[in-house]
Amino acid sequence: VTAITSDDGGDLDAAPDIFAAWMPSHVRLMHLVAAKWVTDPIFELTRLGVADKLADGACTAEELAASCGVLADPLRRLLRAAASVGVFSEQADGRFRLTPMAAHLCSEAELCLRDFALLLNSDPMRRSFGALPKVLETGLPGFEEANGVGFFDYLGQNPDLGLTYQRSWAPLTRRVANAAAAVIDLRQFSRVADLGGGNGAFLLTLLGKHSHLTGILMDQPSVLEAITPELVDDPHAHRLEMFPGYLPEQIPPDVDAYFIKNTLHCFEEGLVAETLRSIRRTIGGRRDCGLFLIESVGLLGNEYDWGKLIDIEVMVNCGGRVRTVEQWDWLLRACGFRLDNASNLLAPQWLLSASPS
Ligand SMILES: C[S@@+](CC[C@H](N)C(=O)[O-])C[C@H]1O[C@@H](n2cnc3c(N)ncnc32)[C@H](O)[C@@H]1O
Repeated sequence: VTAITSDDGGDLDAAPDIFAAWMPSHVRLMHLVAAKWVTDPIFELTRLGVADKLADGACTAEELAASCGVLADPLRRLLRAAASVGVFSEQADGRFRLTPMAAHLCSEAELCLRDFALLLNSDPMRRSFGALPKVLETGLPGFEEANGVGFFDYLGQNPDLGLTYQRSWAPLTRRVANAAAAVIDLRQFSRVADLGGGNGAFLLTLLGKHSHLTGILMDQPSVLEAITPELVDDPHAHRLEMFPGYLPEQIPPDVDAYFIKNTLHCFEEGLVAETLRSIRRTIGGRRDCGLFLIESVGLLGNEYDWGKLIDIEVMVNCGGRVRTVEQWDWLLRACGFRLDNASNLLAPQWLLSASPS
């Protein structure tokens, strides 16, 4: 087990440097507190599909405005604000073009973040962050406070946002699945399950690499129902079995390895423990069954780390938490598992490999 101690954290007082060297400290702070000056233009440009319209070449603000059905002057100003942080770029001839960052907003991009941008800026998710004072007061998720219903129930009741949620993580999940397949010897398993597996991006990537594998995709019934039509064209979907159900109770039996990626960080402590115990009960006497958790983990020190930010996202939306390796070690031991290895898989995601103790 790779222990994360303060020795690994470097200088705990060192400030992370994510800004241009010329920026004085007050400009850096202004940039952060006024982040909406760039995030809202980027979101609006995403909603209008501007990146797709630039995929075949640069356009003027007037051309883009006509195709989006909006006014050219405000659109140009949004584009300039976005271009000031490297999302789109204005050429000398006044036309705008894609940049490497803007290219991720194209629907056909391999690593498309369009749905991610739409999800994080959706009204209910903005409202949940408006409830941060209440989170501080009660420790309960702001999403429910702001929207009257829990996060995953809301997604189930609003299928469009539910699909955006599933699509938002899929391109990132595929990359992580490729990294996981490179370090886990999957030849030893024949039936593997992904609990809270969403739209199957993780499992399908594993199945694509190993033709002998069968995958059990477990998630809430409304999620599996919504994503099933999207799987018809996948060449590996015939080796995917659907297992609709709810954690912690419903765990698919008779599998050789369980994967849980970025789902347990959405859960509060009690639900994580109940889920792990439920998996352990299902495994029973088998010692050769693997458990693989893929999560960003809490790191010490002040360096820029996605895990510290996703911790806020899951705290506000679903009462979850990004846990340290030590916390995982403790939780796994308390629930009948042994943490065999913890390693950085593809930053910020870690692979925690465990087996029944
Ligand atoms: C952050 S997403 C991760 C999806 C996928 N594992 C990935 O990494 O791309 C969390 C997933 O957990 C599922 N989930 C949440 N609560 C659940 C529950 N009680 N039972 C089963 N699945 C649940 C959600 O539907 C969602 O697909």
